[in-house]
Amino acid sequence: MRFVAAIVLLLAAGGSLASTVAAPAVDTTPRIEHRRDGVEVHRGAVSLRVTALTDHVLRVRIARDGAFAEDASWAVPAQVRRAHVAVEAAADGFSTTALRVRVDPRTLRMRVEDGQGRTISADAARPFDADGRAFTLRKQLPQAEHIFGLGDKTGGSLDRRGQSYVDWNTDAYGFSSATDPIYKSIPFFIGVGGTGGSYGILLDNTWRSWFDFGHREADTLAFGAPDGPIDYYLIAGPSTAEVVRRYTDLTGKAPLPPKWAFGYQQSRYSYMSADEVRQVAARLRADKFPADVIWLDIDFQDRNRPFTINRQAFPDMPGLVRDLRGEGIKLVAITDLHIASAPGEGYAPYDSGTAADAFVHNPDGSVYVAPVWPGPSVFPDFTEASVRDWWGTLYRPFVADGIAGFWNDMNEPAVFDTPTKTMPLDTVHRIASDDFARRTASHTEIHNVYGMQNTRATYDGLRKLRPDERPFVMTRASYAGGQRYAVTWTGDNASSWDQLKLSVHQLINLGLSGFAYSAADVGGFTGGPSAELLTRWFEIATFTPVFRDHAAKDTPRAEPWVDGPEHLAIRRRFVEERYRLLPYFYALADENARLGDPVMRPVFYDYPDAISASCDQSMAFTLGRQLLVAPPPTPESPQAYDVCLPAGGWYDYWTGLAVDGASVDGASQPIQSASQATNEKRSSSLVVKETPRLDKLPVFVRAGSILPRQPLVQSTAQTPTGALQIDVYPGADCRGQLYADDGHSMAYRKQGFLRQVLRCTVTADGVRIDFAAREGQFKPWWKQLAVTIHGWDGAGYAMAGGHRVEGVADSAARTLRFTVADQPRAATVEAVHR
Ligand code: GLC
Repeated sequence: MRFVAAIVLLLAAGGSLASTVAAPAVDTTPRIEHRRDGVEVHRGAVSLRVTALTDHVLRVRIARDGAFAEDASWAVPAQVRRAHVAVEAAADGFSTTALRVRVDPRTLRMRVEDGQGRTISADAARPFDADGRAFTLRKQLPQAEHIFGLGDKTGGSLDRRGQSYVDWNTDAYGFSSATDPIYKSIPFFIGVGGTGGSYGILLDNTWRSWFDFGHREADTLAFGAPDGPIDYYLIAGPSTAEVVRRYTDLTGKAPLPPKWAFGYQQSRYSYMSADEVRQVAARLRADKFPADVIWLDIDFQDRNRPFTINRQAFPDMPGLVRDLRGEGIKLVAITDLHIASAPGEGYAPYDSGTAADAFVHNPDGSVYVAPVWPGPSVFPDFTEASVRDWWGTLYRPFVADGIAGFWNDMNEPAVFDTPTKTMPLDTVHRIASDDFARRTASHTEIHNVYGMQNTRATYDGLRKLRPDERPFVMTRASYAGGQRYAVTWTGDNASSWDQLKLSVHQLINLGLSGFAYSAADVGGFTGGPSAELLTRWFEIATFTPVFRDHAAKDTPRAEPWVDGPEHLAIRRRFVEERYRLLPYFYALADENARLGDPVMRPVFYDYPDAISASCDQSMAFTLGRQLLVAPPPTPESPQAYDVCLPAGGWYDYWTGLAVDGASVDGASQPIQSASQATNEKRSSSLVVKETPRLDKLPVFVRAGSILPRQPLVQSTAQTPTGALQIDVYPGADCRGQLYADDGHSMAYRKQGFLRQVLRCTVTADGVRIDFAAREGQFKPWWKQLAVTIHGWDGAGYAMAGGHRVEGVADSAARTLRFTVADQPRAATVEAVHR
């Protein structure tokens, strides 16, 4: 029957099969059946069902032999999958309030248009092939379209067009920009630049799927899998931001992390003893190097056995936690999933797991055993809810010791001494979870979600053990939706300039794929960075979501101080800036938790025209809407480079001066206003020439920003003293946001937060700042606001609550500064020229 379906499709597409078998006895009259929420198209044995989950999100499922695959998902929760809106039927399909869907029942080709008839996505001539259980879907890839997302896949550029990829979670030690597959499978990508605007596609299939973005055929987008459901979501924008937000509506938002996750994090494989950890902490503090976390890698354990402690090296874990807490430093500990196979040795995770029959089985029913760090190991079957519950309980002793966060590594799962680097495909998982039917599944089906379910077990376990604390879990492997449980990092990268560049692309694409919290091992895991590379990496990491310095065993040390005082001073200056920017980072976290906007973004996310900028933008990114970070596109090269600043005006972050304003030494120099350039669309964008200097990283603030910053602290555990700093950079649509809460508990879900929108307007007399009413009931640490208005000339004063406050003007910096009381209620503060 399936074979027949494939033939029917080939014939429909104009293919010829000279020696075909006799005509099948199936009804091949194509027909469209209208449903309240979409259509079902029948063509022979194949059915195509398109449903509108919302006015902008379609779900497309294909049944190749009359029956649709099980309606269950690890990525999209049941209540989200079941959402639907009523549609308006048309002869050839249907419309929602935003989309027009046309399906040709003879070919099964689908076209999705916006309300103006512009194509958002259109199937290729041969939209669908099945070959046995395998399937291929094909869509047109217009020339103007760029492709992003797909998690932290490698490749030479941010844009994935022209590349092809395989999703198969792989322990890719020492990967390069040409390695594929690597650790994660996030089968979601975004098309940007087509006539109907940006759109996204999530192929919700956990098998070894593949994606070809115009690699084999330049104008064709193809994807498929060797088995599993033919089930994908098409998410319309038109903006990229709308696509990403809607993708996170489908697969979930990353929960608000504890504030300390934004602090500087020091790691190494491994700090070998409590004494060494104390020395690292002491050195960070002696060097006045702000830091929040030290990581414990596998050597803190007894014989690499997860959930144990090497008591010779770490005799008193609660004591260590207490001492570090006094320094404002928290511990994150690794807890790999492979449990040592140690029968009769009193190793509790093995014994309790065995009693619960928690481990993955061989086809013959025996428990699968294979070598990883502890030697022979067994592997929890995280697809069973009860096994996840059991796993969660393993954290109880570490939680009691006060360990703050946990690291789920090796969860592809990695297995040693086998060419496949993972477990055999026929090992047996038992699914008892969500709305899946209770059934067994081979590892082929589960492999790509195994790591995600590992982190789910950890996250849910921590929620139970510490119900009022936000969990912090870091993972290496994951699947679409894994952002609900863990932050992620890009695995075992290398100490090279190429990898620094790759890491920027990876983190941006992770953000577009729902993972707003991501890190790359700063300095590179393998090899050992040069002093220059490590310094540059520190500078760039300052503006990335999660900043962890980590390095492999037997590599040179890579802590901030290892290259002498000059490098240390530069690295410290940047990390200090990160700590000053914490209120901004935290407001972005709040925005991400509610809306799904990434923390670190491609420039075109907020500035769509940037997609066609003339500069090499391959290293540029934005941190929220307000900051544009522009590292050298060839970071090892001293060559000058151009930065394209989107229309609207920009300020130099470091000097505070408008980029087209008076120049001071070291400030960015505009070389050309693009009005001189031919492209009318960018008529008011600026091209700025930058000459790389190791101690400098160009960062720009959008004109029309209000940026909150705080006095320097050495740790997020410290309460800043002084005023909250409010920097106002006048320009169009000028706004900013304050967000605060206690930084660690769940109280923010019950009014224990503060959120306030600020807007600025240039008036005839100066600049007006409007404070909206505050949401939430959290009382912040600041009592005063130290306001700096940028781009200010001459003397001035401020009016706040009917009182006049003198301002201090600085003609060289072109600023007016004044301090006013905190504004907890809707209020206006005006800066007035004198
Ligand atoms: C893996 C991890 C690495 C860690 C090492 C030891 O290689 O990717 O970060 O240091 O295992 O646990």
